[in-house]
Amino acid sequence: MWESTICTAFKAHENGDTRFTHTAMPLNVTRSAFARLLLLAAGFGPLLAPLVQAQSQAPIVIKFSHVVATDTPKGKAADYFARRAAELTGGKVRVEVFPNSQLYRDKEEMEALQLGAVQMLAPSLSKFAPLGVKEFEVFDLPFIFDNPQELQKVTNGPVGQALLSKLETRGITGLAYWNNGFKVMSANRPLRNVADYQGLRMRIQSSKVLGAQMRALNATPQVLAFSETHAALQSGSVDGTENPPSNLYTQRMHEVQKHVSLTYHGYLGYAVVVNKRFWDGLPKDIRAALTQAVAEATQVANDSAQKDNQAALAAIRASGKTQIHQPSAAERAQLKAALLTVHKEMAGRIGDETIQDIYQATGFHAPRPH
Ligand code: LMR
Repeated sequence: MWESTICTAFKAHENGDTRFTHTAMPLNVTRSAFARLLLLAAGFGPLLAPLVQAQSQAPIVIKFSHVVATDTPKGKAADYFARRAAELTGGKVRVEVFPNSQLYRDKEEMEALQLGAVQMLAPSLSKFAPLGVKEFEVFDLPFIFDNPQELQKVTNGPVGQALLSKLETRGITGLAYWNNGFKVMSANRPLRNVADYQGLRMRIQSSKVLGAQMRALNATPQVLAFSETHAALQSGSVDGTENPPSNLYTQRMHEVQKHVSLTYHGYLGYAVVVNKRFWDGLPKDIRAALTQAVAEATQVANDSAQKDNQAALAAIRASGKTQIHQPSAAERAQLKAALLTVHKEMAGRIGDETIQDIYQATGFHAPRPH
């Protein structure tokens, strides 16, 4: 094969056919130099053949970027996926996981996925609206889910699937939802009543619904990348934030926040996504194996969520750095009443149909106006 390719190239060159020289050779290469090069290549041909063959057997590499610590539900699920992808494909796929915003921060990772610089991500559901898929912000509506079971009725059902399919036009294929859990609020002053949020600058993710949520509490929302949040809290450029306890703890935010309130007012979860062109171009058997690995990793994420958040809370408590406040029923009811206004306010942005679909799937009853 080597010999015949080289002969063809040589003959083409001799006949003045420039296809080979124009693409592969600088224009000023002389005939004799070209001939010497071809002969050299012919000599190396048998040596290069195994290299070429090895290259054709090189594993398919999937770069999986994310912004959280490895010791979180998402971090664990991503690592598990990497291991299972290798096992289930017999080493034909190698997943390289880049945690903790090592490779990209929130906004850049989305761009990198669309450009194909990375193949896989699991951004929080709050981060898809900047791509133009505003419906994803429905997951940010405060108090829309009362528990993980209600959430799973959406993510495991047709409403969740319909939302994922909206990503296709953005060059992204949605593979699964991974759970994290419900968010707590933190600041350097106790957050018991709605009035306690007044005037606080609160770091949020890039979601207009989360912005409206903070404004409903008379706080000032500030969008910041996850990787910048600890430093911003430490320097005082923001006063507080919201996240599930596992994120709060693994980013050491509790070291720079004196108070945490267990409000569980909103949900944080992820969509596992791949670059569509990459995914569609995979051999069928590889895609099937990866689909299986994602399904298993989903189980890992969902099983870890509650445990990790409980362990994180215990660790925060044990650190003695942060006071944890459990809201009374009256305090929670007051917070809920203040925040449910956001559902109506943001219906125009999210789409009322999407909100109603979720209400229906979960059995949510909007409280009657008093
Ligand atoms: C955040 O930015 O607060 C979270 O989305 C981070 C994450 O991925 O859990």
